[in-house]
Amino acid sequence: MDPLVAAIDQGTSSTRFLVFNAKTAELISHHQVEIKQRFPKEGWVEEDPKEIMLSVYECIERTCEKLCQLNIDISNIKALGVTNQRETTLVWDKETGEPLYNAIVWLDLRTQPTVERLINKAPGRNKNHLKHKTGLPISTYFSAVKLRWLLDNVDEVQQAVLSRQALFGTVDSWIIWCLTGGRNGGVHCTDVSNASRTMLFNINTMAWDPELCRYFEVPMEILPKVRSSSEIYGWMKSNSLAGVPISGCLGDQSAALVGQMCFREGQAKNTYGTGCFLLRNTGTKPVMSEHGLLTTVAYKLGKNEPACYALEGSVAIAGAVVRWLKDNMGIVQSSSEIEKLAAAAGTSYGCYFVPAFSGLYAPYWEPSARGIICGLTQFTNRKHLAFAALEAVCFQTREILDAMNQDSGVPLTELQVDGGMTSNRLLMQLQADILCIP
Ligand code: G3P
Repeated sequence: MDPLVAAIDQGTSSTRFLVFNAKTAELISHHQVEIKQRFPKEGWVEEDPKEIMLSVYECIERTCEKLCQLNIDISNIKALGVTNQRETTLVWDKETGEPLYNAIVWLDLRTQPTVERLINKAPGRNKNHLKHKTGLPISTYFSAVKLRWLLDNVDEVQQAVLSRQALFGTVDSWIIWCLTGGRNGGVHCTDVSNASRTMLFNINTMAWDPELCRYFEVPMEILPKVRSSSEIYGWMKSNSLAGVPISGCLGDQSAALVGQMCFREGQAKNTYGTGCFLLRNTGTKPVMSEHGLLTTVAYKLGKNEPACYALEGSVAIAGAVVRWLKDNMGIVQSSSEIEKLAAAAGTSYGCYFVPAFSGLYAPYWEPSARGIICGLTQFTNRKHLAFAALEAVCFQTREILDAMNQDSGVPLTELQVDGGMTSNRLLMQLQADILCIP
């Protein structure tokens, strides 16, 4: 039997565990569990850290059972990697192992007043004031402002910081800490790709930046140790895979770039998940965007390997617009119905949908923007709305691609795509037509 490798993919909407043949890359077995998103107030988005971990354990156990049914010995799994929704912010107690608040999800807008205050006090009210160090504009999207909110508003977090029991982490850190033993010696670490989404990490020095931490008033002792994206962080404890090394960690959009083998400068991919994230590899030097894109650490595949960077265009709402049409409007019963419905219209009849539910991300970075549907007539029906929603995903990607082409001066002639929505053939055809590239 060839050796197997496994991956935990903890996304905004679901968790998956996948086992691959390490030689052929064939997918052998997998399991997926949906994650409940909580919207306690308008603009707030939270997830339960314990539910996240339970979903990870359930996916691992169910997949192991499936492997047993296939007569595959799980001891063939030689290594495990973690990939995750980025920026989502957690604080937990290292003595009790208890989360001190729900995870604040990347889409959450509660920090809008903090962001406005920070921008107002920046020289020239420049939202790109910290970009030379972070590659990022000051925005509700990134972890530092979410952590600031937790430090200001949650007594348990304040107490735990004072008693030196608090640990901060993005979802990768939480998962690795729990899987490597939690309060009994769990490893508190993150990788460079995840660290680069916090706004506390200097993408030039590749370390937590004391000045940034002072700016956000974040105590440095609660931050995880930053490691490369490919090295042994620790070993699995107490489940079917006990003893397996955890040896890979990448934010999900970086992982998609690697999965699409975009290792050469200029290569790009777009992932259609909850949001839409177009990343273009820019090689070993960070390139600063003049057109509203982010500069991010793409990966560092080994302790002694150089870091690779990417330009990124982030769109907050892509698949989430379909989920909204289903859950909030009842226009479809299941997400997969959207394609048939939109195809039945074949046009939006002049209806436009801007799903700026969480403000607008790249290239605008406008947290106060909100969604609109316009161009409605007496003739408009749910089929046209469905079509307009798909077009909205494509138009947003087009804007990112235009910004990327302007930044690099070399137009993209081909785009790799992945993510749940790519099974929608109509969406992919619309996208190719709207981008004018295959
Ligand atoms: O930056 C957020 C991103 O990592 C979330 O990815 O797949 O949950 O939409 P996804």
